[in-house]
Amino acid sequence: MKHSILTLTSLCISTLFGDYNNVLQFAQTLEMYRLLGVNRVVIDNTSCGPELDRLLRGYSQEGFVEIVPWPIDHHLKPSHGWSFSEHGGELHYFGQLTMLNECIYRNMERSRYVLLNDIDEIIMPYKHNNLMSLMDKLQPQHPKTGVFLIENRFFPKNHFEPSGKFHLPQWNGVPGVNILEHIYRAKPNRNVYHAHKMIVQPRAVEQISVHEPLKIFGGQFKVAPDLCRMIHTREALRSELKLEELHVDTKLWNFTGKLIPNVDKVLRRTGLLTELPFEPQQRTTANSSEVET
Ligand SMILES: *[C@@H]1O[C@H](CO)[C@@H](O)[C@H](O)[C@H]1NC(C)=O
Ligand SMILES: *[C@@H]1O[C@H](CO)[C@@H](O)[C@H](O)[C@H]1NC(C)=O
Repeated sequence: MKHSILTLTSLCISTLFGDYNNVLQFAQTLEMYRLLGVNRVVIDNTSCGPELDRLLRGYSQEGFVEIVPWPIDHHLKPSHGWSFSEHGGELHYFGQLTMLNECIYRNMERSRYVLLNDIDEIIMPYKHNNLMSLMDKLQPQHPKTGVFLIENRFFPKNHFEPSGKFHLPQWNGVPGVNILEHIYRAKPNRNVYHAHKMIVQPRAVEQISVHEPLKIFGGQFKVAPDLCRMIHTREALRSELKLEELHVDTKLWNFTGKLIPNVDKVLRRTGLLTELPFEPQQRTTANSSEVET
């Protein structure tokens, strides 16, 4: 593992567990972050599914991903959900809080900024081409701020984009969600607690939680959602089932020219890409009857 390089931006993904095997969304998210300027991703691994294991081994050999082995289930009974009252267990959610803090300290001497979010979330700048230009704009405006809070937006995965143009045949054998097919953004519910995620300067943080800092040096700042917000592609919540309550947001499509070939490359390396006879000319053909609306 390369520890000596000073990186500008690192991403911490907290604990992988169970037989999680959402390979397509994982590869798309990591490649999206690479285009946004993330130099290193730290992933705590308790366990994962077989194809995801292969994908991550490739990333780890390349040096983009640093896997932290975390066999906590050999020692304690971790809860499989975030809600302690609901899920019980001896340790909250596989030690997510411990590992988030561990990742901050791990990056303290080597990263200017650390992003903290889950693998089904992308912290997306909407007015800058990458995360560093966003921070180069924000940081001088808020010189004493070490924690930038980013608003969440859900993109429910039960609604599919109708043309099916990114329902790509070479990804048919890849397990997981195709985030390019989910472009409907739900309105935030202002009546409930808004779960932010964060971009932090690691040296400004003493202790952190999942959605907010606990002990910091300097201030925190809520970033305006039109400047930067999260694309969080996941199962629908009951309140966001109706299409007419959703906004179309095709921000991810701005990147497909580079994103798709890069995702193909890592999937090919993992042995998961379906090789097509007339690539790349036939790559965007999709059968619209397969597309759910
Ligand atoms: C993740 O942990 C499991 C359980 O120890 C192991 O079998 C698997 O190979 C690990 N994957 C990676 C990419 O390190
Ligand atoms: C990205 O896409 C949006 C529409 O989704 C468009 O308005 C914008 O000009 C595109 N380009 C960039 C660089 O953001």
